[in-house]
Amino acid sequence: MEIHIVTDAVERAGVVADVFVRTLQESVGSGTVLGLATGSSPVPAYTELIRRHREEGLSFAGVRAFLLDEYVGLPPGHEQSYHRFIRENFTSHVDIDDSAVLSPDGSAADPAAEAAAYDRRITEAGGVDLQILGIGSNGHIAFNEPGSSLASRTRVVGLTRRTIADNARFFENSEDVPVRALSQGLGTIREARRIVLTATGEGKAEAVAQLAEGAISARWPATSLQLHPDVTVVVDEAAASRLELADYYRYARGLEHSGPVAPHS
Ligand code: GLP
Repeated sequence: MEIHIVTDAVERAGVVADVFVRTLQESVGSGTVLGLATGSSPVPAYTELIRRHREEGLSFAGVRAFLLDEYVGLPPGHEQSYHRFIRENFTSHVDIDDSAVLSPDGSAADPAAEAAAYDRRITEAGGVDLQILGIGSNGHIAFNEPGSSLASRTRVVGLTRRTIADNARFFENSEDVPVRALSQGLGTIREARRIVLTATGEGKAEAVAQLAEGAISARWPATSLQLHPDVTVVVDEAAASRLELADYYRYARGLEHSGPVAPHS
């Protein structure tokens, strides 16, 4: 895991956006498949990518995108649907066609069948080249709550009371927050070829510490990312505040800009 501890929102957005640009450049011509996440954490990176598109000619032509999750009961056009969120905060502002942005259909009559079909659609598209993730304060990624199988696939999940409370801020009334969601599984997410996870604030500090340094366990679902070979974690000082090895991560990032051996003193 490559851990970046950043000083402000601009630097955080820039480091995440750079991972997107590197992925787009590497898979040029073959139609990059992006895995997109909702929540507030990735928004500054989306804003930076929109800026680079407008001001620097960054193109997403040919890109297809798969969303991580969707609330059960909300159709794609619903105000609070994740599909609408991603269009409003990212894809409609760049050259990604609406029809190229796929999400599990929260209004499907048979949510379990929809989940399995969505998982297959990702595989049939050739898999995800880059998956961006946030993290829940309880260590969930997508909606894989504590207790999720580390090999889980896209499925219907029940949301914990803590997640419902955390997400209530996006709804007018907390009673309106759906209690179930369709979510890519931990096994599905780990099939992405590259992953970038970003988090901010003290409320995420314990989850981030577990993600990077905890024992791999269903108790903290994000720890399953320790089994992935290409994960970049971009966190601010507050979210990094419980990392025991923070000094090492800062030192290691510094070494990336130096030569192969230590300079003579
Ligand atoms: C929801 C989403 C997750 C997201 C999490 C954190 O639960 N399903 O994908 O990572 O919220 O959201 P935020 O970034 O707003 O803290």
